[in-house]
Amino acid sequence: MKSSVSIYIGLMSGTSIDGIDGVLAQFSATGQPTIITSTSIALPESLRHELLALNQSGPDELVRAARAANSLAAHYAAACRHLLENTHLETNDINAIGAHGQTVRHNPGAGYTLQLNAPALLAELSGLNVIADFRTRDVAAGGQGAPLVPAFHATVFSHHKPRIVLNLGGMANISVLDPGEPVRGFDTGPANVLLDLWCERHTGQAYDKNGEWAASGTSCTGLLHHLMHSEPWFAAPPPKSTGRDLFNAAWLDERLRAWQSSHPAAKLDPADIQATLVELTAQSVADAIRQEAPDSEDILVCGGGAFNAGLMQALAKATGLPVVTTDAAGVPVQMVEALAFAWLAWAYDNNHPAGLPSVTGARKPTILGCLYKA
Ligand SMILES: Nc1ncnc2c1ncn2[C@@H]1O[C@H](COP(=O)(O)OP(=O)(O)OP(=O)(O)O)[C@@H](O)[C@H]1O
Ligand SMILES: [Mg+2]
Repeated sequence: MKSSVSIYIGLMSGTSIDGIDGVLAQFSATGQPTIITSTSIALPESLRHELLALNQSGPDELVRAARAANSLAAHYAAACRHLLENTHLETNDINAIGAHGQTVRHNPGAGYTLQLNAPALLAELSGLNVIADFRTRDVAAGGQGAPLVPAFHATVFSHHKPRIVLNLGGMANISVLDPGEPVRGFDTGPANVLLDLWCERHTGQAYDKNGEWAASGTSCTGLLHHLMHSEPWFAAPPPKSTGRDLFNAAWLDERLRAWQSSHPAAKLDPADIQATLVELTAQSVADAIRQEAPDSEDILVCGGGAFNAGLMQALAKATGLPVVTTDAAGVPVQMVEALAFAWLAWAYDNNHPAGLPSVTGARKPTILGCLYKA
């Protein structure tokens, strides 16, 4: 007889391309998780750069993509080994891995989304069942294929009052948890992607630790207004999702040039621009909540952006709501998305549709993922 308790691994490597987060968790018959152990592994600089480069067209990109996918799978397998070493569990105790892969293109409006992954190789290297390719079925059903996490957020963070769960990864996405209503959710715009690229360019650091560099600057209201209003994506209603396809260095540079040429007397330091980008994330989240979920009473934040103290303060100010991290609800911020992929694997195995029309705009609910047996 199939046991009602099951164990899944979730592996997440997100838009920021900062590394792999892994979680090993036990799930109850209703899909309630208990984290057993977790790990985070950095990607080698060369693979990080290659994955970043593969977000744009380039020479020999098919072969490079295939090689990068294999390399990513090897790192996923290493993450699984770390997780198993932390426990007394054997491979046959694990029902499956949920492995997101690395998004390198996301254009659901044109009918495609592409995550680099090598799930067959991961099954071979790990000796575990692998469930992968979580987005494409929803896109095939006319949906955004993103965000994938709201059904999971609803399972774990629902409350008796209307609440927002905000993931501050490369992009920002919210889940709207209204008691008694189907969960909604959508991307609100860029989060760490623009902060990281501007910080790396001007300080050489991969990210602005705790938001300290941004705090040394002053945000510019005029530039913020230009960034928000020159981009129609912000005002578009949900369902919507986005990625590096839109919010990237070219997007930022073009707007900075346009604004600077119409304000030649304005003198902005790089730190002032970083401070403005923090406000861009905070204001775009606040606008989305005002328009789509005005009754929300608090915000639970997860993702690496939760460590950015300046961003957390800007969010509290822009929304006027209490802003706390998911740690307060029992899940450490950096583990929420990886746990979501363990849950997505559980959902696949239990025929539970995690692709929801109320989130993605698809024609019908869909079971997400595809199984590669060990
Ligand atoms: N101490 C910190 N201070 C400021 N920012 C931080 C800190 N720690 C992490 N971050 C930010 O968090 C980012 C990583 O966040 P996370 O792993 O949630 O994003 P992701 O991998 O892109 O996931 P997603 O797919 O959800 O976009 C880093 O690139 C960095 O910008
Ligand atoms: Mg990450």
